[in-house]
Amino acid sequence: MDSLWSKSFDGVRNFPRLSQDICCDVCIVGAGIFGVTCAYYLNLLGFDVVVIDKDDIAGKTTGNTTGKITSQHGLFYSYLINNFGHHFAGLYLEANESAITNIKSIIDKENISCDFSFENNFVYTTDFDRLKSIRDEVEAVRSLNFPCEFASSVGLPFNIAGSVCFKNQAQFHPLKYVWGLCNSICDSTRFFTHTTVSDVRQDNGSYVVSCDDVGYRVRSKFVILACHYPFINVPGFYFTKMYQSSSYLIAVDTKKSLFDGMFISADSPSFSFRTAKFGKKNLLLIGGAEHKTGSYCNYDSTYGVLENLAKKYYPDCDVLFRWNTRDCVSLDKIPYIGLFANNLPNFYVGTGFKKWGMSLSNVAANIVVDMITGKDNVYSSIFNSSRLNPIKNRDEFKNMVVQSSKSLLIDKIKRSHLHFEDIPLNSGGIVEVNGDKVGFFRDVDDNIFAVSPFCTHLGCLLSWNDVDKTWDCPCHGSRFDYTGKNLYDPAFKDLKVFDVMD
Ligand code: FES
Repeated sequence: MDSLWSKSFDGVRNFPRLSQDICCDVCIVGAGIFGVTCAYYLNLLGFDVVVIDKDDIAGKTTGNTTGKITSQHGLFYSYLINNFGHHFAGLYLEANESAITNIKSIIDKENISCDFSFENNFVYTTDFDRLKSIRDEVEAVRSLNFPCEFASSVGLPFNIAGSVCFKNQAQFHPLKYVWGLCNSICDSTRFFTHTTVSDVRQDNGSYVVSCDDVGYRVRSKFVILACHYPFINVPGFYFTKMYQSSSYLIAVDTKKSLFDGMFISADSPSFSFRTAKFGKKNLLLIGGAEHKTGSYCNYDSTYGVLENLAKKYYPDCDVLFRWNTRDCVSLDKIPYIGLFANNLPNFYVGTGFKKWGMSLSNVAANIVVDMITGKDNVYSSIFNSSRLNPIKNRDEFKNMVVQSSKSLLIDKIKRSHLHFEDIPLNSGGIVEVNGDKVGFFRDVDDNIFAVSPFCTHLGCLLSWNDVDKTWDCPCHGSRFDYTGKNLYDPAFKDLKVFDVMD
């Protein structure tokens, strides 16, 4: 399903696939907002940069976000102060506030037309029992010397119990912004798309980045892994400390007047709101229906929830766009930014931005670029990617271990009782064929597609996603389309495909 962003931007251009062995100073793997921002800053400093992506520029998570740029990441500052202390929380806030300023500066300097506007951002609750957590957050943020406000009347079409308001936050059109960055440097930075990086190895003081699908390699002094979820398992071991979450967005057209500002609820389930331009229309964006990637979902539990909410408050509305995205979430909710692993010098990573990649990608790009140039960065210590802190989120850790064990061990050997005839048209499921599991999809014309339903990352049993018609991995969130083509990291290989006549 296409996002509002992709349908309201016609500036996408094609870049070539890698077609020869090349050398550069810095090879960036991934052309989302983090990778392209790194390329932008490094280009300004005179580095010879190569950017490689297996998709298009900003074609995955970046192109499917809400496009909010804020330092207010839910009721996050109480959490940070309680778990990491005042100093840490203050640095986190300052880093993200700086990101808003940095992004605005880039937009002004490069004259990027990306619908940027400053907005107030609200985290609210409709539940009076949760009001204390809102007031606690106000106190927590004020203790960091940041002027947030408590507000109970915010302009939403329903009553709230209270909210925390951050002023001078921002929103933009994420594709227009990233393509603006890309266009400003593409005369002197080489971009290669639809090229899959399959390995990164040290070799004589530099790195060799291999792209097996095209058969060519890039040799560079520095490597930045900016590919959403690191696909290299060892060292780093990111698959043991990060999961992926799926969430959904709709854009609706209504004749009723809309509100100003950006909103996200602190309740469960949580919903997100903002407005965005689409031609002459001002559309309402509603996000939510979050679930762990690979867990069961259907239309009613995802888009259906958002559409019901839209119809409840805007009965005249038409849903114009539906789309969804995935976010990487670390177990302590802090991104991993810095050296990919302590024993790999000049090899960097930025990941685990949760739902706040618009601001955190800028924070990450500044940290990584400063590390490459040997400059001190006051924020780098709080995002240390090699940290071995005690686990702050034991429930999430337990869930991750249980889910991985279940998908890797129990579900793999458990018999599937689904019969092929039970799979409806335009749907999929796993069937036992001669004792082996096979993932089938029947399209609307009853064409049959059969794949091995085992993830090419670490072998977990995949689950069928009937909303997107994809095979999703419950362990670390890799995704494949119904033909077996890999869509999302950390897996990068396609699924084994069976001839249906086998
Ligand atoms: Fe890790 Fe599938 S994503 S096993």
